[in-house]
Amino acid sequence: MNKHVSSFSKDDAFETDILTGLKAPQKTISSKWLYDDVGSHLFEAITGLDAYYPTRTELSILEQNAKKYLRLPGAHGAMVELGSGSSRKTNVLLSAFQDLSVYMPVDISANHLKEAAEKVRRAYPSLAVVPVTADFTGPLDHLPLLPELPVVVFFPGSTIGNFERAEAAQLLRNIRTAMPEATMIVGVDQPKDEAMLIEAYDDPAGVTAAFNQNLLQRLNRELGATFDLETFAHEAVWNTKESRIEMHLVSLRSQEITIGGERVSFREGETIHTENSHKYSEEAFTEIAGQGGWRVLDRDTDEGGLFSVYTLQAV
Ligand code: TRP
Repeated sequence: MNKHVSSFSKDDAFETDILTGLKAPQKTISSKWLYDDVGSHLFEAITGLDAYYPTRTELSILEQNAKKYLRLPGAHGAMVELGSGSSRKTNVLLSAFQDLSVYMPVDISANHLKEAAEKVRRAYPSLAVVPVTADFTGPLDHLPLLPELPVVVFFPGSTIGNFERAEAAQLLRNIRTAMPEATMIVGVDQPKDEAMLIEAYDDPAGVTAAFNQNLLQRLNRELGATFDLETFAHEAVWNTKESRIEMHLVSLRSQEITIGGERVSFREGETIHTENSHKYSEEAFTEIAGQGGWRVLDRDTDEGGLFSVYTLQAV
């Protein structure tokens, strides 16, 4: 496929996906669309907030255990990172994995990826940095990997928790299909006190609210939608049954917007569901990993038991 065709079909997929979600009884927008350039930068800001405990907690677990992860064969071959999020986490592993030859960040946001890759190139001149712009929620068979290089997949940030259980298992299965000999290092957030969770996903400075609302701005910018940002509020709620934080955008009044030549109406208080962040116990995550074809080798956590880093091996 040539470049023009593939970028056209991507935009088309964006609009179709958005319209399908907005026509459902519970309006939904897939969280992958949160990460345009603005969204990626806002997310980077979230990871530095006091209220957002996952980043610093995961970082400390990685620091504590980096030497141990050096035993994974891929630590001496290629590291594939899914979602090039916080460069600080990547750094912890790259500085420990001294004889790594390839670093391959995979991210949906091309510019964010380019910036991240440049930073790594500057810090590790002898490493081959091979950024891949791709939506890793699809098949991963196209990754330019060498069969003779062992692979470690790094999947931090509890991004796995942003999928429904069945989707998470499917994603893990796709990774296994593309890299059947690999091991994985996966960050997974734990269930905990509800107040602490709400604070992390509805921070006092309003950065998470801005991140969520950027989605509507993006629809206005890229699809010519007519969302009035003043009339949609960020909301984070804990869903006990599903063990997840849900992010919504609540319409503050009854209104109609247009997007892609179609009208979408909202009742007052009606929401667009934009994100789930599942919080998994060891038992729950082990089950999902198993469904995806992976066995838990190890689980590392912090003193407070807030967050876990799992190492997995394909079965
Ligand atoms: N993987 C992150 C998480 O679930 C993503 C995230 C954090 C997020 N804060 C958010 C997504 C706010 C949407 C809105 O913790």
